[in-house]
Amino acid sequence: MSIRLEFIWDVPPIDGAEKMLNQVAQECMAAEGITLPVYVQARITGDEEIREINREYRNVDRATDVLSFPSTNCRPEKTLGACEKKLLQERDETGCCFLGDMIISLPRAREQAQEYGHSLQRELAYLTAHSLFHLMGYDHMQEKDKERMRSMEEIALGRAGISRVTDDELIEMAKEAMQFSYSPYSHYKVGAALLAKNGQVFKGCNIENASYGATNCAERTALFKAVSEGVREFTAIAIAAEKSVPWPCGICRQALNEFAPELRVIVAWGENSREESTLQQLLPHGFGPATGMLDILGKE
Ligand code: THU
Repeated sequence: MSIRLEFIWDVPPIDGAEKMLNQVAQECMAAEGITLPVYVQARITGDEEIREINREYRNVDRATDVLSFPSTNCRPEKTLGACEKKLLQERDETGCCFLGDMIISLPRAREQAQEYGHSLQRELAYLTAHSLFHLMGYDHMQEKDKERMRSMEEIALGRAGISRVTDDELIEMAKEAMQFSYSPYSHYKVGAALLAKNGQVFKGCNIENASYGATNCAERTALFKAVSEGVREFTAIAIAAEKSVPWPCGICRQALNEFAPELRVIVAWGENSREESTLQQLLPHGFGPATGMLDILGKE
């Protein structure tokens, strides 16, 4: 299974967008269970252009955020996953099947990102997923069809690591977790909120012990909760403390590196202080399954 988005930019291209949107597209196909190789023409354009396309092909004389023109005729009752063979009629000489066209208005995407309080990246990812599910026969005319489409979009975005959780919300959750800190020895309360690729958030606090050495930090509490629930992929962690900056300790950096060497790390303390880094910056040349253990794990 693979999908390729072929981009046409009528507006100045956005750095990194093609790669990110191709990842989202892969997850949409995986969620629908498509096995054939497919491609989509993805045109990123302006308001005037999308209005013209809307007028010409749909007889609707106004700008919109996204338009989708499927190559095959599927329905909400029987989406593409259930009749994938239809795609074979759309094969090109390389064996790749044409799924259809998607057109996104970049100015509209920008406005909507602002309106919903999330990044342009998240909005473009959402519009891409929305369009791809339309190309696979999904619709939102009836309430139950709309729900199905929304849940497919959420699954794909979650798996692509495009979560709906904002950094502010993640910090809020770390602060909530901090309230449960068991720290009668240091009196240093810490809370952590670990965001998984699938959109789940795992919270943890520091748990001290009379033997001191048995203490568990907030970050590892959150991490171990997640891993012991079967979740191993993460995109960000927020760590909160009361008065001073709670950069993770060396042991936590190492523990996090095992599962998420590319993790974003956000620390929050005091009234409104916040800083952001990456695990790669905090643990340069880290030892882990993707680096130091290669010979033992039998990887190249
Ligand atoms: N602590 C954490 O929970 N996370 C860190 O990264 C730094 C330290 C906790 C452990 C202990 O309960 C207290 O803070 C003081 O070291």
